[in-house]
Amino acid sequence: MLTPPPLSLYIHFPWCIRKCPYCDFNSHALLSQLPEKSYINTLLKDLELDLSRVQNRPIISIFMGGGTPSLFSPDAINYLLVELAKRLEFSDTIEITLEANPGTVDYQRFCGYREAGINRLSLGIQSFSTEKLKTLGRIHEGDEAIKAVLAAKIAGFTNVNLDLMHGLPRQRVIEGLEELQIAFSLDPTHISWYQLTIEPNTEFYLNPPQLPREENLWELQEQGEAIFKQKNYQHYEISAFCKDRYHCIHNLNYWQFGDYIGIGAGAHSKITDSEKNTIRRAWKQKNPKSYLAQKNNFLGEEKSILTKDLPFEFMLNALRLHQRIPFELFQQRTGLAFSNIETLISQAQQQGLLKYDAVAMETTALGKRFYNNLLTMFIRN
Ligand SMILES: C[S@@+](CC[C@H](N)C(=O)[O-])C[C@H]1O[C@@H](n2cnc3c(N)ncnc32)[C@H](O)[C@@H]1O
Ligand code: SF4
Repeated sequence: MLTPPPLSLYIHFPWCIRKCPYCDFNSHALLSQLPEKSYINTLLKDLELDLSRVQNRPIISIFMGGGTPSLFSPDAINYLLVELAKRLEFSDTIEITLEANPGTVDYQRFCGYREAGINRLSLGIQSFSTEKLKTLGRIHEGDEAIKAVLAAKIAGFTNVNLDLMHGLPRQRVIEGLEELQIAFSLDPTHISWYQLTIEPNTEFYLNPPQLPREENLWELQEQGEAIFKQKNYQHYEISAFCKDRYHCIHNLNYWQFGDYIGIGAGAHSKITDSEKNTIRRAWKQKNPKSYLAQKNNFLGEEKSILTKDLPFEFMLNALRLHQRIPFELFQQRTGLAFSNIETLISQAQQQGLLKYDAVAMETTALGKRFYNNLLTMFIRN
């Protein structure tokens, strides 16, 4: 029997000032005026069509991601939040994150977002080196990245994430570590430290830059993780590090196989229907123009997750976490008995990739390094 899990809301904003050469997200260079009003109104219509599916559950988190949500004015974000609160119940401890690009914000704008109700900022810093930022095609420079963090803090944000990338073209280990030291000096509550990957359908895929050698990437990863530990940041997911209890509630809900409504161009939803005993995934229309042109149906595709695929889907998310995963969570979120995965878990343990006891499992250091190998064990044909 499926229990309805915690519910989050993801809102996609598909425009950026320009497209970065490494990015394969659903983001598009803004070539004309931002359709601010019509997009916000379309988001609200899109949400209304999903409401009946969420069984009146309160929302534990809202994540405004992109693209570049910070292209939208504080007034627009305020209006959106006021209208969302009329349609949804917000939990008392709701986390409301907005992704902001340092090249699109200033102190006044941050004050406006905070007044609108945003209580967590995620700043797309990527690097503090102007030379590296140029290689990455970013619109901001190193000192603007630092100024953006300071302005966010002065505006009153106490929960700030920095997105930083490493393994950048021609980056030496020492340079990658220096970037981390600058980040620590700004004292963020959370750092998402992503290794640059070359994705198909990007400019970097067509014209690959010269990346550091594999052994240097590994050395930077290991030394970086040690510094995070020294600075008292908890490494709780492959790329996520936080202070004290500042885990990202929204992303944790994804990784714990919780539910989410996704609104906006190309946004994904995962919704559990405990009456029908199904878990449904849906994708909204991806192209911003076609999305905006819709009136009554924003869906691109939808499907129920097949029972045979549930263990893999659960593991794909949960094994990213660097913490114990209770078997009870597997049972609650998939509706399947532990016996479904027991043999596979025991095989993974024999290979040194997982360890487990009577109540929970945890990825080992080897399992973290060979995460993809571990995952493929749970694919069923
Ligand atoms: C969807 S982006 C949105 C953030 C915001 N638009 C920005 O870039 O400032 C979220 C984060 O994913 C990371 N990212 C995007 N493409 C990546 C890639 N190819 N490899 C590693 N990290 C990537 C970047 O750190 C980025 O800030
Ligand atoms: S600003 Fe962010 S979302 Fe936009 S293209 Fe660059 S990485 Fe992608």
